[in-house]
Amino acid sequence: MESSLEAGPSVLQVHGPGIDVAAERARTPGATLAHHFNAAGAALPTASVVQAVVDHLRLEEQRGGYEAAHQVLDRVEAVYDDAARLIGATPGEIALFDSASTGLRTIIDALRLESRQRLLVSRSTYVSHALHLMSLGREHDIELVIVPNGPSGAVDLTALDAELAAGGPAVVCVAHIPTSSGLVEPVAEIGTLTKRYGARYVLDATQSVGHVAVDVAAVGCDALVTTGRKFLRAPRGTGFAYVSNELTASLAPTAPDVRGAVWTSSTSWELKDSARRFETWEASIAGRVGLGVALAEALERGGRPTETCLRAVADQLRAALGQIPRVTVQDPPASPSAIVTFTVDGQAPRRVNELLALRNVRTVSVPASHAQWDLGSRGVEAVVRASAHVYNDESDVAALVAAVTEIAGEN
Ligand SMILES: Cc1ncc(COP(=O)(O)O)c(C=O)c1O
Repeated sequence: MESSLEAGPSVLQVHGPGIDVAAERARTPGATLAHHFNAAGAALPTASVVQAVVDHLRLEEQRGGYEAAHQVLDRVEAVYDDAARLIGATPGEIALFDSASTGLRTIIDALRLESRQRLLVSRSTYVSHALHLMSLGREHDIELVIVPNGPSGAVDLTALDAELAAGGPAVVCVAHIPTSSGLVEPVAEIGTLTKRYGARYVLDATQSVGHVAVDVAAVGCDALVTTGRKFLRAPRGTGFAYVSNELTASLAPTAPDVRGAVWTSSTSWELKDSARRFETWEASIAGRVGLGVALAEALERGGRPTETCLRAVADQLRAALGQIPRVTVQDPPASPSAIVTFTVDGQAPRRVNELLALRNVRTVSVPASHAQWDLGSRGVEAVVRASAHVYNDESDVAALVAAVTEIAGEN
C-alpha cells in the first residue's frame, strides 16, 4: 500500500539510505538560522526554489507578465507532469490552484450536492473545509455525518462501512493527515469502502503530499487536493488538485473561467476535456515556476525515503517529549507522521510557542477553533505543534527538547 508509513529506524538518519540531511541543510538557507519545526505551516524552501521565483519576477520586470509567462510555458507544463508523477496520476488529471482550500471548494461545488445527499466526513477535516461543508449542509439540506474515530484516533472503518451502507450515494471527505495531530488516516482502506458502495471520495492531502508516499490508484480516491507551501517546500500561494478523468468528465465548474472554457457563441461554451477546466486564468507564474522546482526536488528525494526520514525524526521527538515532566504528547495512537503535538501543564500552548520562539525554536500553537471535530471533541483547548522536514537534524531535536524541558521546569 503506497499511502501508509513504513516502519522507520529508531534513530535519526543523517547520512542513512535515502535522505542526506546535511545536504538538505546546505541547500536550505533558513535551516541554519533557526530550529524550524513548522513544515506543517510552511516549510523552509531550498535556495533553488526561491531563486526560480526571483528570476521569474525579474523576467516579468523586464518583459512584462504575459511575455514572461510565454517564455516559461514549457516549465509550467512540466509542473503538471511532475505533480502527476509524484502522486501516480496523469498530467490531464492535474489542476493548479493557489491553495488546497480553493481546489477543494471548486471540486466540492462542482459536485453540486443535492438535498438529502449524504456527506460523510472524518474528524480530521480542516477548519476551512469544515466551514464550507457545514454551510453547504445548512443551505442545501445535505446530511452531514461526522464519522466517529476508533480507539486509535483514526476513522472507525466499521462505522464508515455502516454509514455507507445506510443511505444512498454519498460523498466521503477525509484529511489524510490533519492540521491538529500526527494522525495518518487509513486512506486506502477508506478507498476500498468507498468503491464498494459507489461513493465519491475526496481526499485532502494538504499535509501528506511531500511528507508520505501518496499514490492515487492505491488510495482509490476520485479527487485529491494539496498545497505547495507545506511538505512540498514550494512558494506560498501555490497548490494543485488531482481529479480523475472519470470524475472530470462528469463535472462542470460552477464558475467556468476563460482558462478552463472556450466561449463558442453568445449562449454557449465548451469546457476543456482535462482537469484544467477547473482552473482560473490569473495565477502567480513565478509561484508556479517555484512549485515546479520544488516538485522536481521532491521527486528526486523520493516519497518513501522522505517518509522514513521524517518518521525517524518524529519518533525521536515524541519519545523525548514524553519523558519530560509536565509535558503531554497529545497525538492519538495512530500517529506516525512528522507532525508532533504536545501540551505543557499550566502553560497555554500560545505562551509555550512564544517562549520557544525566544529560544530560536519555531513551532505554532493550534487552537480547537482550527479543529473542532478533533481537538474540540477531545476536550483539548489547544496544542503546540512541531513539524519536521528533511532539513531537521539532531541539533534541532536537541534544541527543541532542551527548550521544552526548560519551559516546563519554569512552572
Ligand atoms: C489538513 C489541512 N487541509 C487543508 C489546509 C488548507 O490549506 P491551504 O491554506 O493551502 O488552503 C490546511 C492548512 O493548514 C491543512 O492543514
